[in-house]
Amino acid sequence: MLKKLQERWKVNTLNLVLVIFTFALGGSLCGVAGRRILNFTGMEKGVLWILLYIILITLLWPICVLLISIPLGQYRFFRNYLHKIWNRMAHNETKPVSIAIFASGAGSNAQKIIDKFRRDHSVSIALIVCNKPGAGVLEIAANENIPALLIEKTRFAEGDHYLDELRDKKIDIIILAGFLWKIPVGLINAYPQKIINIHPALLPKYGGKGMYGNRVHQAVIDAREKQSGISIHYVDEIYDHGKIILQASCPVDEHDNADTLAAKVHALEHLHYPDVIADLVKNKNRS
Ligand code: GRF
Repeated sequence: MLKKLQERWKVNTLNLVLVIFTFALGGSLCGVAGRRILNFTGMEKGVLWILLYIILITLLWPICVLLISIPLGQYRFFRNYLHKIWNRMAHNETKPVSIAIFASGAGSNAQKIIDKFRRDHSVSIALIVCNKPGAGVLEIAANENIPALLIEKTRFAEGDHYLDELRDKKIDIIILAGFLWKIPVGLINAYPQKIINIHPALLPKYGGKGMYGNRVHQAVIDAREKQSGISIHYVDEIYDHGKIILQASCPVDEHDNADTLAAKVHALEHLHYPDVIADLVKNKNRS
């Protein structure tokens, strides 16, 4: 139960204790304040008193928890929490779109995606899926208090594809950001047009099995291409093949090597991937 709350609110154990304490103290404080105010009016206890009391504590509660959250260092959490409640009530916002990021590398794209949606309550980055123990992205997951799932190849490729874990987190969209294993057909069928990938070159060239990381950039340089870039695409059963959503390019200069080209491509990825995902989420919310 506490673990679930911690995952939902994306807080560490100490902050979870402080958040619960703030809820409890804020609740009692607004109860006492509400009673004091009504006593001050000299009003008789009755139906009207109860009605006014309910209205008063509804108004006082956010103020009380915010005030208490400041000395306890939880102001940011409560500001976001109240903002979320307000959006749900005022704009009739529905449940957030739940995203799983599949990544097995440093996770710089994962970090940019997390940053993009940090204050956007229509999206929840609910799970990081990784196949490489020690990958940088796992550290990011831990720092951001996002649950991480370390997967094993046979179960992923030939077993149940971890569908139960994805359903448990109510995942709506899967984002591949540096995930090298082929996505099994069973998973593609479970998430039709809901899995997207980013490839660090202008597809259909320089894609396919084994084309990842600096191998891609070296191939582009060896072929004396004048341009490289990124391709964001839906995932189908063939490597780097599904329908393209967006491509963006950068020049390949004469003095570029695989590392300098990788840096340019990475900058393009960070610029465009979070925005493409935001568009996808908007469209999902409309459909
Ligand atoms: C990116 O270049 C992406 O295009 C490719 O894998 C790399 C992941 O980089 N699919 P990072 O782990 O996000 O830094």
